[in-house]
Amino acid sequence: MAVTARSHAKINLGLAIGPPRADGFHSLVTVYQTLAAHDLVTVSATPAARTTIHLTSNDARVPTDERNTAWKMVALALDRLGLAAEVAIHIDKRLPVQGGLGAGSANAVAALLALEAELALPGNIANLATGWPAERMRLAAEVGSDVPLFLIGGTILGLDRGQSVFPMPDQPATCCLVATPAVGVSTPQAFRDWDALGNIENPADDAALTSAAGNDRLNQLSRLYAGACACSQAGFQPETSAVTDSSGVLPSGQSLAGPLVSALVRAGIGNDFERVVFAQHPFLAQIKRILQAAGTPEESIYASLSGSGSSLFGLYPGRKEAEAVRQRLSEAGVDAFLTHTLPRAAYWSEIFPPNAG
Ligand code: C5P
Repeated sequence: MAVTARSHAKINLGLAIGPPRADGFHSLVTVYQTLAAHDLVTVSATPAARTTIHLTSNDARVPTDERNTAWKMVALALDRLGLAAEVAIHIDKRLPVQGGLGAGSANAVAALLALEAELALPGNIANLATGWPAERMRLAAEVGSDVPLFLIGGTILGLDRGQSVFPMPDQPATCCLVATPAVGVSTPQAFRDWDALGNIENPADDAALTSAAGNDRLNQLSRLYAGACACSQAGFQPETSAVTDSSGVLPSGQSLAGPLVSALVRAGIGNDFERVVFAQHPFLAQIKRILQAAGTPEESIYASLSGSGSSLFGLYPGRKEAEAVRQRLSEAGVDAFLTHTLPRAAYWSEIFPPNAG
């Protein structure tokens, strides 16, 4: 019998980029947040003499061969577990294919979770290989820097190249409007453009872009975020104390985002990619201004580019404000969808939909 798993989107509440490393990656300090919006990934697996994978999708832009992250994850997992199976994966794509929302990375983890459930051999797959939870984290990091976060869910600190992930205090579900402009941004190119900034600017004027100073800046930000965590823990209101509507979102005007988001905003969280991506696509900076809605009754709690884009998001006190901003985006010809941030407990309790919906 096939198993379906929800494959949730993420946003980056903030993302600071360090200098390039010898392995071609960049050190990062980022805060990820999972969203309710999701794709659906269905896996069926039958033990066989050798592994074969067949991948389909409702979206022709999704690669259906070994370039697909879900394919890679399933192949690696079976290999590491010493199992062989005839596997069918179907990806019901509902999220933008390339947009800074981690959709492809999430597909990999959803496929792994569905595969594990499919192969629920007596006593659970964890018994097959000691240390499987740590091993699957390593496999996820092998598939991509943005993949391991989906093995944690909620609000997550990402260090190293983004794959070294740590759960942060859970935040109440908050209304989130995601703008999906029809602009493609290449992540490797955006990193190269960031590096180029360091070469053309006077390091004395912009010490953040030199190697040592870049690493110092990341360390400083890690401390700042840890401090924000500690502050938010001290004044944390448990999610259960709030009255939510059927979607789990606080009704308009009843709450702002959790204390962690407020503390991070006060700490000056931001996304370094905005500097290079907005310079190339000024329209995206304009979309951010619409999302911010500064000085209006719909003013966002926080708005930013997600990852290297081109998606941008705004967090709002309630649905009413987010709907009003969505209307303004629509008038500017920009597509957007309304969702909410997904706390860790909800992420895990909703991962296997009862009716694959
Ligand atoms: O890890 P992932 O495959 O998602 O990374 C895609 C590309 O993005 C890498 O090949 C690299 O060029 C760039 N990257 C980077 N530093 C990171 C993450 C990604 O330079 N921390």
